[in-house]
Order: sequence, then structure tokens, then C-alpha cells
Amino acid sequence: MSSLKSITPFVFGTTRLGHDDRPFEDRVSIALQAMESGVWFHTSHQYDNALDVLSRAFKENPGKIPKLIVKIGWHSILEIRDNIKLHLDQLGISSIEVGQLCLENPLKEDFEKGGKCYDDLQKILEEGWIKNWVLEVFPWTSQTAIKAIRNGFAERIIQGYIFYFNPLQRFASNTLWDILHERNETIIAMRTVSGGPVHKLRDVPGAAWKEYLQKRATEVAPIFEKSGIQNWTEFCIRFAHSFPQVISTVGSTNKSENLNDFLKASSARIEALDQRIIEQITLLQQRWSDELDIHAEPWSM
Ligand SMILES: NC(=O)c1ccc[n+]([C@@H]2O[C@H](COP(=O)([O-])OP(=O)(O)OC[C@H]3O[C@@H](n4cnc5c(N)ncnc54)[C@H](OP(=O)(O)O)[C@@H]3O)[C@@H](O)[C@H]2O)c1
Repeated sequence: MSSLKSITPFVFGTTRLGHDDRPFEDRVSIALQAMESGVWFHTSHQYDNALDVLSRAFKENPGKIPKLIVKIGWHSILEIRDNIKLHLDQLGISSIEVGQLCLENPLKEDFEKGGKCYDDLQKILEEGWIKNWVLEVFPWTSQTAIKAIRNGFAERIIQGYIFYFNPLQRFASNTLWDILHERNETIIAMRTVSGGPVHKLRDVPGAAWKEYLQKRATEVAPIFEKSGIQNWTEFCIRFAHSFPQVISTVGSTNKSENLNDFLKASSARIEALDQRIIEQITLLQQRWSDELDIHAEPWSM
């Protein structure tokens, strides 16, 4: 059985640990608070100085070092090996539980056509640096996943798929989503609360980092209000876990009270949302995908 099955239902994303709107020491305290809870972490050297914060927290409480999902990529196997080493060295750990495979050409093309990279990625598993590979997906890379799955290559090494999935975003194209559903593939959902409370995204200028998110918040807010659930974080964690293939949702904060919301909503048995809510949001996401997502330029959304 894949060790991915032991993932915690909420994974602490570390983007906010790299943001200096709070002092370094405060961010170390948040990391320690999350470590104490036992949740897995998601990180990347791209998140400003988040790795420095984590490194300090891991030294302060080595008995509670969490299992990690780490972004690993991009253009070649050589770069992947360098990237793994960078994270192991900086964090003082000996292996990474989950490597989030981020593919750019020429590696992406090799992956699509079932090339040598599969043997190379398998070797990295056998050497023990990475314990599981999951494939990162965006609307603009959904075709890569579709090709690799349809041709029977992906299943050689890929244990699951990781993408933005929350009430306002589903970053697998409709075709890929259907394939993942039919094959009962494992999914890790990212951006739990889609960047913050839905009313703030709808009403506060600049809260939504792109206009499309503000528009989507306008469509989803009435569904949230009608649910009777008071807390957006709870709604979002229950949303992600209403889909049986979703094993975890990754959210971030650098505030103790907001971390507590994530932990509280994911600590007991997570109740699925009413099926009618899921159907309504699923319909919206199908439309959004065709209208906008699959036409989007890479990194534009
Ligand atoms: N390609 C990738 O691999 C990729 C891309 C995006 C994200 N991720 C992963 O997913 C994680 C989460 O993504 P994200 O940070 O973009 O999305 P998110 O978790 O949906 O949103 C985080 C934002 O919501 C705010 N927030 C959280 N709880 C709140 C609450 N109870 N009340 C008010 N505001 C709240 C946080 O602000 P405060 O800090 O002020 O609470 C932060 O600004 C990242 O840390 C990263 O690990 C990965």
C-alpha cells in the first residue's frame, strides 16, 4: 500500500511562512504549532524564505518533523536531483514523502511519450530520496496528464494528482477530471479556502488576485450562505472531502487563529456537504473550465 494513504486530511501549506508581513520568529511559532498537531506540510524553495523558517522549526522540535509534499521539477532529471538535494540539505531531512512532479519541456514531452524519465524517476524512488510521486496539473498541462494516463505510462510511477481544487477553482480540465473520476485516481486538492473568505474575495477590492476569482466568489457566496455553515474554512474542507478520491486539502496561513480553523475543521470525521451543493458547484466548475480555464495562458490564473 502506498504511504500516501496515511496523509492527514489537511496539509499545512507553507507559502505564508515565507511572507515577511509577520516577523520571522512569529512564523517559526506557527510552523511549530502546525508541527505539534501532526499534519503533513507542503513546501517549496520557491516560497520566499519559508525553508529557513521550517529549518529553524525542525531544529527546535526534531521529534515532530512532519511528512512533506515538496514541489520537485522542472526541465530535466538532473535538475530534479539537484532540487531534491537542495530541499534535503536545507531542511536537514533524509527523504521526502511526496514529490510533486512539476514538468516543463523537454522533460514534459518525454513524460507524455513514455520516455526514459520513467526509469529515472523510478530509480529515485528505489534510492529512497522520494517515497511517492504525484503529478502537478494545471489547466494548461492537463493534456500532458491525459496523454500519459491514456497511453498507460503514468500508472508506472504516479500515485496521485495534485491541483488547485476548492469551491472557486478546479484546475483539471473537464476531460482530465472525467478520466480521474472514472479511474478512481487519488487527488490532493490545493488552496483550501481559495485565498480567503468568499465574501472578502467578492467584496473587498484587490482581495481576489484576479478578476475571475472575484466573479466566481459572487456565484458561490449564495450557495455558501444557503448551506447554513457559518465558517468558510469548514465549508471548504468539507467541500474537498465530499469527493471520495480527495485524500487531503492544502491550505496556508501565518495566523494562529486561522490555523486553528483549518485544524478544527479537519480533526474529527469530516462530513460531506449536501449533495445538492456539490452538484451546483460542480456545474459551475464545468462551465468555468470550458469558458476560461482551458484557454488560459500558463500562469495567468
Ligand atoms: N503549484 C503549487 O504547487 C501551489 C500553488 C498554490 C498553492 N500551493 C500550496 O497550497 C497552499 C495553500 O495555497 P494558498 O495559500 O494559495 O491558498 P489558501 O490556503 O486557500 O489561502 C491562503 C490565504 O487565505 C488566508 N486565510 C486562511 N485562513 C483564513 C481564515 N480563517 N480567515 C481569513 N483568511 C484566511 C490566508 O491569510 P492569513 O495568512 O492572513 O491567514 C492566506 O492569505 C500553499 O501554501 C502551498 O503550499 C501550491
